[in-house]
Amino acid sequence: MKAATLASVVSLASAAIAAQLNLIKEYAGSSFFDDWDFYGHWDDLNNGNIIYVNQSDSASLAYVTPSGNAVIKIDNTTTVPNNDPRNSVRITTKDFFEIGTIWIMDVVHAPYGCSVWPSIWTKGTLWPEEGEIDIIEGVNLMTYNQMALHTGVDCTMPLDNTDQTGTALLSNCNTTSGCTVKENTPNNYGAAFAQNGGGVWALQFDVSGIFIWFWQRGNVPASVTAAITSLDADTSSWGKPSASWASSSSCNIAQHFQAQQMVMDITACGDWAGVPSIYGSTCGNTTTNACYLNNVVGNGANYDTAYFEVASIRAFSANAATSNATSSGSAGPAATSSGASSGASTATSTVTTTPAAGTGSTGASGGTGSGAAALVTPVSLGVAVGLVSLLSLLML
Ligand SMILES: *[C@@H]1O[C@H](CO)[C@@H](O)[C@H](O)[C@H]1NC(C)=O
Ligand SMILES: *[C@@H]1O[C@H](CO)[C@@H](O)[C@H](O)[C@H]1NC(C)=O
Ligand SMILES: *[C@@H]1O[C@H](CO)[C@@H](O)[C@H](O)[C@H]1NC(C)=O
Ligand SMILES: *[C@@H]1O[C@H](CO)[C@@H](O)[C@H](O)[C@H]1NC(C)=O
Ligand SMILES: *[C@@H]1O[C@H](CO)[C@@H](O)[C@H](O)[C@H]1NC(C)=O
Repeated sequence: MKAATLASVVSLASAAIAAQLNLIKEYAGSSFFDDWDFYGHWDDLNNGNIIYVNQSDSASLAYVTPSGNAVIKIDNTTTVPNNDPRNSVRITTKDFFEIGTIWIMDVVHAPYGCSVWPSIWTKGTLWPEEGEIDIIEGVNLMTYNQMALHTGVDCTMPLDNTDQTGTALLSNCNTTSGCTVKENTPNNYGAAFAQNGGGVWALQFDVSGIFIWFWQRGNVPASVTAAITSLDADTSSWGKPSASWASSSSCNIAQHFQAQQMVMDITACGDWAGVPSIYGSTCGNTTTNACYLNNVVGNGANYDTAYFEVASIRAFSANAATSNATSSGSAGPAATSSGASSGASTATSTVTTTPAAGTGSTGASGGTGSGAAALVTPVSLGVAVGLVSLLSLLML
């Protein structure tokens, strides 16, 4: 088939499906923390000067506000002596989310400050072979969010910004930093994000690619705000994503990404924020260990802005539900992006990875052109499955 024919088949299919994706999981309100595991260990993943508390010790660091928002934070009330770590939180969803999922995250405040390194991200069971998606991540007084994918070998992304509003920085996803994209939408990180009342992210995890949108508060599309019990899968009204990693012959997304758990964490210093040249670049002191000595040690007053406040995280899919791996509990696997690879997984995966019918269409309707582009590349396993799903729906 010619590309044009394929593209029109795809758009017909999208229209015919008029897809409403089901809410498959909601983290919001008083039950926000019900289905997460707490790490309960020092930060051996990114070598931060942090102990991630276990759930029994989390009351003052992971809680729901009277207005119903979930907060996780670095401890800002304890005086920490030299050579000791400071307490913080790292939580991982018990559920695994299959390819075909779109997450919508409404974030009121994200952590920032010298030494602070927050992230909201997802990962497969085996790292990095089953993929990692960094939705929110930055360090110290950076003024922009840096998004990234991490994979095993043979996944590269073009340094091409045609289909995204962000700026592609690194191409090879199998590197310490991953294939990174800089966010360019105003007020996306740090003090500016907080002062603007936060914003909303959407992450689409699809056979056609992985796409992240960000809207600052006040600019959130109506279909996103309305996504409570279902989501209109036609993302064409969302505009270009901030980051677009389309599936292609240089990186087959369905082969490099298996079902993902979501992780929220905040560490201090460590392998990215604590590198003297990196710390010094926004916090002005390149002395070895300045990150630790000038922030972690002492009364914690530097951590008053080191908290996530999240109104809701909702996952939508054409699938009926999420799938669960047999998890070993709080021992969370895998490193985050700047990547100590020491976090070998302890989870035994029982996840099935068959893409659901219709997953191909959600990407194809993305208004980025990337869905169609994925389909005209040499047909690979994931794309083929998506196409078969579409064709079988068309035949109904
Ligand atoms: C929670 O963490 C504290 C401090 O590290 C430890 O003393 C306690 O045994 C832990 N509790 C559980 C249930 O793991
Ligand atoms: C690159 O991929 C290989 C094979 O999957 C993996 O062992 C290694 O940790 C990856 N390296 C990075 C920096 O992601
Ligand atoms: C940089 O940090 C070190 C370590 O705490 C401290 O001794 C030094 O005075 C700091 N330098 C400046 C210019 O603040
Ligand atoms: C700690 O941070 C919170 C915000 O998370 C702030 O309200 C509080 O004033 C800060 N300082 C102390 C000593 O609690
Ligand atoms: C996964 O585990 C969580 C927590 O035990 C549970 O709430 C959820 O319903 C499970 N999901 C499935 C699909 O079994």
